[in-house]
Amino acid sequence: MAHILVCGSPLLAVSGGRNRFQVAVSYAPGMELNGTSAIVTGAASGLGEATARVLAAAGAFVVVADVNDEAGKEVAESIGGTFAHTDVTDENQVSEAVAAAVSSGKPLRVAVNCAGIGFASRTVGRDGSPHDLSAFSRVIGINLTGTFNVLRIAASAMAKAQPADADGQRGVIINTSSVAGIEGQTGQIAYSASKGGIIGMTVPAARDLSVIGVRVNTICPGIIETPIYKSIAGGDPEAGRAFLAKLAEPIVFPRRLGQPAEFGHLVKSLIENDYMNAEVIRFDGGIRFQPK
Ligand SMILES: NC(=O)c1ccc[n+]([C@@H]2O[C@H](COP(=O)([O-])OP(=O)(O)OC[C@H]3O[C@@H](n4cnc5c(N)ncnc54)[C@H](O)[C@@H]3O)[C@@H](O)[C@H]2O)c1
Repeated sequence: MAHILVCGSPLLAVSGGRNRFQVAVSYAPGMELNGTSAIVTGAASGLGEATARVLAAAGAFVVVADVNDEAGKEVAESIGGTFAHTDVTDENQVSEAVAAAVSSGKPLRVAVNCAGIGFASRTVGRDGSPHDLSAFSRVIGINLTGTFNVLRIAASAMAKAQPADADGQRGVIINTSSVAGIEGQTGQIAYSASKGGIIGMTVPAARDLSVIGVRVNTICPGIIETPIYKSIAGGDPEAGRAFLAKLAEPIVFPRRLGQPAEFGHLVKSLIENDYMNAEVIRFDGGIRFQPK
């Protein structure tokens, strides 16, 4: 019988005779979703909605935090969670949404930032006029400052809960950036700046929050099929399909748009894997954006 330590870990040991090997893997994640509460912003639609559904299916009580009351209430009702009208830029509304999670009686362990808006305008337009400054500030305000606002208030609430495991882990925060935060295209100056800021926050946030046992990771989606693309092509379904097929062309594999449920699956994996921290993860089928 041979015992081999893999990478020095006592948890992963391979043992066996001449022709027979058994792999014994022992791992129980500290960050168990069942019986906890979570807040998901932008959860009335798209990636946030898919995430809320995945977390609820795993047993979490989810606060659906969004500015869209009608769709948000529908999602919350369908998953046994609660809706909180929340503009992520508003301190009081975010505090109330976080309080709704805490008052469920289940410890707040998860905050997922999905609220966001798109915007396209060149730095200097074809007519020579400069980019609108208030539009730039609005995109930064919702996508970047809003993400920070939720991160800081949720983390403060997580700090007051008992640790979930022997490591002292209390919670996980997942932010949504974009591949455009790394390689923004022409006309994406405001959007890319907002998403690049989220990437920049990831390591210092994880370092700051290590003292309270909160991990922070950021996902950079490529092109995921959500309502964000619905208005494109003037609502014409045929033109819309052609547009989406063109978007999919540079995707390496699989050559299709990503699905929101696949994003939700990644969020759950990052929450449940206790060693994932301070990381920025591309989620994009291998696409690399071209200048246009
Ligand atoms: N879909 C993609 O291909 C893709 C790619 C990269 C990044 N992203 C990012 O993922 C996030 C989710 O995008 P999506 O595709 O699900 O879009 P979506 O439009 O389907 O959903 C966004 C949600 O955010 C909400 N929202 C907007 N402003 C808000 C505010 N101030 N406060 C609270 N909620 C607000 C909207 O009401 C909506 O429900 C966004 O941050 C987006 O930039 C999406």
